[in-house]
Amino acid sequence: MTRLTRIAGLGHYVPPRVVTNHDLEQLMDTSDAWIQERSGIQERHFAADDTTCTDMAAEAARHALDAAGWTPDDVQFIVFATLSPDLFFPGNGVLLQHQLGLGEVGAMDIRNQCTGFVYGLSAADGLIRMGTYDRILLIGAELQSPALRLTTEGRDTAVLFGDGAGAACLEVTGGRDGSHVLGHRMHSNGKYALELCIRRPGAANRPWISKEMIDDGSSGIYMNGREVFKHAVTKFPAVILEVLADHGVTPDQLALVIPHQANMRITEAVRKRLDLPEAKVYSNIQRYGNTTAGSIPIAFSEAVRAGTVKRGDLVCLASFGSGFTWAASLLRY
Ligand code: ACO
Repeated sequence: MTRLTRIAGLGHYVPPRVVTNHDLEQLMDTSDAWIQERSGIQERHFAADDTTCTDMAAEAARHALDAAGWTPDDVQFIVFATLSPDLFFPGNGVLLQHQLGLGEVGAMDIRNQCTGFVYGLSAADGLIRMGTYDRILLIGAELQSPALRLTTEGRDTAVLFGDGAGAACLEVTGGRDGSHVLGHRMHSNGKYALELCIRRPGAANRPWISKEMIDDGSSGIYMNGREVFKHAVTKFPAVILEVLADHGVTPDQLALVIPHQANMRITEAVRKRLDLPEAKVYSNIQRYGNTTAGSIPIAFSEAVRAGTVKRGDLVCLASFGSGFTWAASLLRY
């Protein structure tokens, strides 16, 4: 039998606390108008102080397991993408294995920031195709609010990011005619690694952590927004067109493009470049902000629950982000 991968079920979770642009106006010199005009964001969700990234991932995973009709015992391997792990090490994969009470299944962590879910999907797809596993739980989750500087000094990034988690249950399938993942394209250019990063703490520093790093704000998120924007609007459509060309698909054949929710203006630029109507490019950044590795699975899970994506539909997932990395996956849902 040809071994292919299908998405058996999707789930997502965002913490209940909603933080609006008006709430941020109380904390820093910003405005609802500035944030909406530059990013499209109206509100985002921030986790409570006692919630971890693994907690949110576990909630999303339970929803995905329900959707797939799996029990926890069905999970044979975990792939967990996040840039906001609970601990510096070990990664969240093992924490999720323990929290969900799974058997001693393997767990792998992906550090690819905004492209984490697509890179993770390609890794899981490869493991399934090779016959290593039949059923894999893939997570994209972020708890970013504790790293945001909610002050005027941190406003350039603090207004953009939110918390949330998405999960996909992936299983082996034999049918080329039914639902399956078609393929992936992945790129990186580390020349731009420091244009969007958290530089400290890190083992390149001596000492690797110090009180000064916290006091001077250098342990916070740094982003050269204009540089990110410039690359995102060209790399996003390029990688989408690459993966479509690999499989002889044209943009008009897609039921939906689910881009990483980085910024409404980036999504709009991608949509125009591909000449697609608004209804064919998913957008929920208005409600969640940028949830990095969480954004694609949250959007995908929402789109399936809303009936926007149906079984058999051609869907393209695409992302650009820190690294820089950019990637796309094409699948028949
Ligand atoms: N509220 C009010 N004013 C602000 C804020 C804020 N939150 N943040 C910055 N400003 C000010 C700046 O200080 C600057 O003031 P000045 O002109 O007096 O110096 C002014 O607004 C313009 O700042 P710019 O950085 O030039 O604003 P720009 O129009 O480039 O928009 C933005 C900034 C939204 C970050 C834009 O560069 C962008 O969309 N970049 C893409 C980056 C992105 O989407 N990142 C998401 C994470 S990465 C990813 O997921 C792909």
